[in-house]
Amino acid sequence: MKNVLVTGGAGFIGSNFVRSLLRSAPATRVVNLDALTYAGSVENLKDLPDAGRHVFVHGDIGDRPLVERLLRAHEIDTLVHFAAESHVDRSLRDPGRFIQTNLVGTSRLLEAVHAVWGEGASAHRFHHISTDEVYGPLSPGDGARQETAPYHPSSPYAASKAGADHLVRAYGKTYGIPVTITNCSNNYGPYQFPEKFVSLMIANALEGKPLPVYGDGGQIRDWLFVEDHCEAIGQVLQRGRPGETYNVAGQNQPTNLEIVQNICALLDDRRPRQAPHSRLIQHVADRPGHDRRYALDTGKIRRDLGWRPRHSLHDGLGRTVDWYLENQGWLDAIRRRADYQTWITENYANRGAPRTDAAVIHSSEINATP
Ligand code: NAD
Ligand code: DAU
Repeated sequence: MKNVLVTGGAGFIGSNFVRSLLRSAPATRVVNLDALTYAGSVENLKDLPDAGRHVFVHGDIGDRPLVERLLRAHEIDTLVHFAAESHVDRSLRDPGRFIQTNLVGTSRLLEAVHAVWGEGASAHRFHHISTDEVYGPLSPGDGARQETAPYHPSSPYAASKAGADHLVRAYGKTYGIPVTITNCSNNYGPYQFPEKFVSLMIANALEGKPLPVYGDGGQIRDWLFVEDHCEAIGQVLQRGRPGETYNVAGQNQPTNLEIVQNICALLDDRRPRQAPHSRLIQHVADRPGHDRRYALDTGKIRRDLGWRPRHSLHDGLGRTVDWYLENQGWLDAIRRRADYQTWITENYANRGAPRTDAAVIHSSEINATP
């Protein structure tokens, strides 16, 4: 790993990864290719450790000549592919954009890598960042998904990521490109754009605005602090075997309602005069096609690479709440933007109340073993 091309490195996880890589690999140079969509910003790349080893390039993963030039000019040996449209709710309104970036964009990137690295490029690595959503939802009694589970994506976002995973594997099998994939659960932490559940709940609570919980709030996700995800990717780059897929998750199964209540409790502790923040929780109409539950079996990455998350959910949420409290300028700059306010109006203004007949799953009914 001398010269690493990171795609989407101005977004949430990508910027955390660039920071973590510069800190942990002192001999590595990073070229960061990002189109700076609404979700990406160079503000996320301020105060990088040893910034002299980081080159930012404003461009699109679908621009094959540009990617080929970067691969050659910087003698890239490792590519870590984060760039994507990543928000499920936006994929329900504009699926075409997700197909274009996540599927077509990934295929252009693979074409460029194949053209420059050639076949059987053993000194190289193409690492693709994917999601647990490709496996589809679990019922209460289902065991956590292993890497061999079949794909059943529900949303256009998940389907576009599933397609990208298949393309990456196809390039590994057909052309011998050394590919690895990580399928990860829900991340949270510093620099998350305030449209996702945790970041939006914190941002709204800080302004005393309603905390919109979809449906009954009984949906279950597995939550991982972003730094733990970055460490897992680092381990896979160092020691993961080409052709392999690794699940990455925090191994927890809270309901959405439990998450928002935890956030409210953390804010009550830090801002007692605004307590109780839970008075702001408001149930709103559910997301169409909303997957009820995801759960990943992370036995493989634990056994083969020795990775495990270092943050408990409580510690990770605490650090996240503190980061947003300390970086309200970053948050305000996004919240003031017209395109952000348009999104919030589109997604929430006419949402209405939830249906009351949805089935509720309690945590005690969950089987977390494979
Ligand atoms: P994000 O939306 O915060 O950032 C995406 C970044 O990609 C932005 O900086 C954006 O400008 C850039 N980008 C978008 N289209 C591009 C293009 N055509 N060319 C170049 N850059 C482009 O996303 P995130 O939450 O950081 O997710 C990063 C990756 O991790 C995605 O592939 C996502 O599917 C995956 N993932 C995310 C989570 C999560 O919980 N956030 C969990 C599992 C997997
Ligand atoms: O599971 C991994 C995936 O996690 C990633 O691949 C995606 O990129 C990432 O966005 C995330 O998808 P989710 O749809 O799970 O994340 P989101 O934060 O949008 O929602 C988390 C849960 O909270 C989900 O059940 C929907 C619910 N929710 C979300 C929002 C934005 C609400 O109840 N209210 C909200 O306002």
